[in-house]
Amino acid sequence: MEVHKRLGSPREVSALALTQLGELAQLLEQRVDAIEIFLRRVPHAVENGGDAAATQAAYSVAGSLLRMLRSGRMVASHLGVVRASPGLVWRAIDDGQAVGAVTAFLRPDDRCFVAFDTCRDDAYGSLLTAVAANTGSDLYATVDEGDEHSVELLEINGFTVTRRESILLIPTDPAITGLRATAEPAGAVVVSAADAYEDELRRLDDALRQDVPGTAGWRWDPGDFHEETFDSQFDPATYLIAVDAESGAYMSLARVWNSPGRPRLGLVATLAPYRRRGLARMLLARAFRVLHERGSPGVTAEIDDTNTASRSLLVPLGAKRVGGFGRARQAGAVTDSQGLAAPRRSGMQRGGKHAGPGRQGGPAMTVAGASPAPLLSRR
Ligand SMILES: CC(C)(COP(=O)(O)OP(=O)(O)OC[C@H]1O[C@@H](n2cnc3c(N)ncnc32)[C@H](O)[C@@H]1OP(=O)(O)O)[C@@H](O)C(=O)NCCC(=O)NCCS
Repeated sequence: MEVHKRLGSPREVSALALTQLGELAQLLEQRVDAIEIFLRRVPHAVENGGDAAATQAAYSVAGSLLRMLRSGRMVASHLGVVRASPGLVWRAIDDGQAVGAVTAFLRPDDRCFVAFDTCRDDAYGSLLTAVAANTGSDLYATVDEGDEHSVELLEINGFTVTRRESILLIPTDPAITGLRATAEPAGAVVVSAADAYEDELRRLDDALRQDVPGTAGWRWDPGDFHEETFDSQFDPATYLIAVDAESGAYMSLARVWNSPGRPRLGLVATLAPYRRRGLARMLLARAFRVLHERGSPGVTAEIDDTNTASRSLLVPLGAKRVGGFGRARQAGAVTDSQGLAAPRRSGMQRGGKHAGPGRQGGPAMTVAGASPAPLLSRR
């Protein structure tokens, strides 16, 4: 009786014990993942005969492992996760102090991206578990290519970098790019997005994204599309659409956003039946000419390293690689007895401005310390 008063009823004690066992199991799983990564990297370092970079990478993972082991004890005893209103943000709390936060973004292609805000290493696992329990689907993250520590944190927490993108800086001066021909190819007319039929434009955007690496399955909500398109970064002179003069079909688009700091080529794409007619090149020539005349010498763009067509289009314009990032995926789908993903997305918002990573068609985990600027903007 006395014991019950101090510890709670047998039912309460069992529930508490189960919760703690669950936390312990999660910690052990993280340790095993970390040890596996370490063991994979050590032979690589040795094989390279003391290669400095490989050895450094192995020691770096060992450091993370030790930090995790040390901080893991705190997780078991104190760390808790709370979901902040309106439901897209989870915070890790230790002894009443916030030690990290994660925001989840559900994009119009149903991919759920996570972005971390200043976060203690040992809080990532609990935060990700909380997001995954809500979404029941794979999680995606974006990490700067130079940020080894964040890559390790992702790997320890079950992520794998599945794609890599390069950030290019493209000149706008036609004397450098060679983009002098701005005349429409026969049968095509160019309109600004400001003068386009919005539903047609949205359908074109949806269709084009099916062929852009990392955005297959994209379907805009009309309201979100409007909100994201026509905001302060919209520039009617650099958001151009090629239309078939006879049928009125929308064939191709190029859009350069008036992004803070430097204009940014969000997307250049042509529907498959209209490719190799010079449409993309002509739209770029027109948009870049406007920027050049305004005094903007360069435009940034992000392209998938495997996208041969877009590299062949952009690199010969004098584009220089100025950075890159990796796209990581954590296969965490909760499956039912038939092996089907079971989404549980209470309170998740789709698309639009709130789906920051969606704007670019992919990016999204920024790990503490990583620069979110190029990673959380739109496509
Ligand atoms: C890349 C893409 C936009 C090109 O559109 P397009 O209207 O066919 O391009 P253009 O006809 O203006 O081609 C201009 C030049 O780019 C290069 N190029 C375009 N597509 C190419 C391909 N598939 N392979 C090799 N080079 C290619 C060629 O040098 C071409 O000149 P050429 O036809 O005289 O040889 C188009 O293939 C596409 O929409 N791809 C899928 C979407 C995508 O990945 N977009 C980039 C994301 S930022």
